Amino acid sequence: MTFPTTKFSPEIVGGLDEAERASRDRIQSLQRERLAWSLRHAYENVPFYRQKFDAAGVHPSDFRDLSDLAKFPFTVKQDLRDNYPYGLFAVPKEKLARIHGSSGTTGKPIVVGYTKNDIDMWAGVMARSIRAAGARPGMMVHVAYGYGLFTGGLGAHYGAERLGCTVVPMSGGMTERQVQLITDFQPDVIMVTPSYMLALLDGFIKAGIDPRTSSLKYGIFGAEPWTNAMRQEIEHAFDMQATDIYGLSEVIGPGVAQECVETKDGLHIWEDHFLPEIINPETGMPVEDGEYGELVFTSLTKEAFPIIRYRTRDLTRLLPGTARPGMRRMEKITGRCDDMIILRGVNVFPSQIEEALLATDWCAGHFVIELTREGRMDKMTVLAEARQEHWDGEGLSEHAQRLVKQIKDTIGISTAVLIQAPNSVPRSEGKAKRVFDKRPKE
Ligand code: DLL
Repeated sequence: MTFPTTKFSPEIVGGLDEAERASRDRIQSLQRERLAWSLRHAYENVPFYRQKFDAAGVHPSDFRDLSDLAKFPFTVKQDLRDNYPYGLFAVPKEKLARIHGSSGTTGKPIVVGYTKNDIDMWAGVMARSIRAAGARPGMMVHVAYGYGLFTGGLGAHYGAERLGCTVVPMSGGMTERQVQLITDFQPDVIMVTPSYMLALLDGFIKAGIDPRTSSLKYGIFGAEPWTNAMRQEIEHAFDMQATDIYGLSEVIGPGVAQECVETKDGLHIWEDHFLPEIINPETGMPVEDGEYGELVFTSLTKEAFPIIRYRTRDLTRLLPGTARPGMRRMEKITGRCDDMIILRGVNVFPSQIEEALLATDWCAGHFVIELTREGRMDKMTVLAEARQEHWDGEGLSEHAQRLVKQIKDTIGISTAVLIQAPNSVPRSEGKAKRVFDKRPKE
C-alpha cells in the first residue's frame, strides 16, 4: 500500500521546519490523510487489528473525519504481551531495521520494530525536539539515557546526529566518570532522566566542582514524571535551561512531544506523526481539550509497528499550541493511572509529594514513598533525604512535622515523614522507582 503523498519539508526557516510553521488547519488536513492510511495499513497487514476492527463492526473505509477515530477500538499493553514477540508487526521481519523493547518489571517484555523509514521519521522528530529545547547544529550533546533495548539512548543519539550535533554516547551509570567527561569534553547539552540528573549533581558536589560552572546550557529531561519544582531545582543548580521530553516505546520512543525552551509551558505534541486523544479512563469516552484524563495515541506514519488508539495510562490534558501554533500541547504528566496511590480514599501522585518536598529548603528531591498496612489501615511514609548543609545528624524532626502538616493541609492525606541522612536514599541510573508497596497482597 502506498504511503500518503503529502509531505512537509524538513527545511528550517526562522528556526522551524514546515510542520512547526503550519497552521492548525493544515495539520488537521494532513492528519486526516495520514490517519486514513494508517488505519488501512494496520487493518490490511496486522491480523490482530483486522479482528479487533471486525469485532467492533468498523472498517477503515468508515473513517472520513478525525472524529471518526473514536469508533475504532483501543489497544492496551496486554495486547502487546499477548502478541509477543512479532504479532503486531505490519511488515515482514526482513524489512525491520531495528528492534527495541522495554524490560518491564513483571512478565514478558514488549517488543517494537522499526523500518528504515520509521528510524528516519524518529530521528526527524527527535532532531526537532532537541532543537526546540534550545540546541543548535554544532553543539555537543552528552547522552546519558541508557543505550540498548530502551529507546532513550539510541533515540536521543540519532536525533542529535540528525540535527548536526556532536554526540557523546555515554549511556547511564558510572556517575564519577560522567562528571569527569562533562568537565573535560565541555558538552552544551545533556539528555538524561531528571532523577539521574540529580545523581550527577551529587557527583559534581562530591568532586568539588561547582555545577554552575559546567559547560551545560540545555538539559532535555524525560522518561519519568518530574515537576516544575524539580525544573527550578535543576536549572538553578546547573545554571541551565531545562525542558521536558515525552515518549513511549509503543508509539516510537522519546520525541512524541517536547517542551519549547522559549515558552516552557507544556509539551508540543508532534501531531504530524502522532495523534493524541484524552479519554476518561473509567468510561473510555473521549473528553474535550482542556479536560484531564488518560492520554491515547495513534501513529500516523509508522510502517513496521502501527499503533491505533494506544492507552498510555499517562494522565494529562491537551491545550492549544503556543510556540508551535498548529500543534497542541500536553500539560506535564501528573502521573500514571498505575502510580496513583489511593490512601484511605484520597488519590495522591508521587509528583505531588515531590512538589511538597521541593518547596522546603532542606530537601533536594531524593525521596521514596513506602506503603504499609497497620491493622486495617494503609499507611504512607515519605523517606526524604536532607541536603548536606541542613543535616543535623538526627532527623530534623521539626522540619518533618511541618511537612506532615503541610501535606495534610494541601493534599489532604496523613503521612509519616522520615528525614534521612544525605546520600542514603538509593539513586537511580535511569527511571527512578519512587513507590515501594509493602502492603500484604489481598
Ligand atoms: O521512557 C521513552 C523516553 C526516553 C522518553 C527518554 C523520554 C526520554 P518507555 O520506557 O516505553 O519509553 O516508557 C514510557 O515513561 O508512558 C510515561 O509513563 C513515562 N514517561 C516518558 N516520558 C515522560 C515524561 C520512554 N516526560 C513511559 N514525563 C510513558 C512523564 C514520562 N512521564
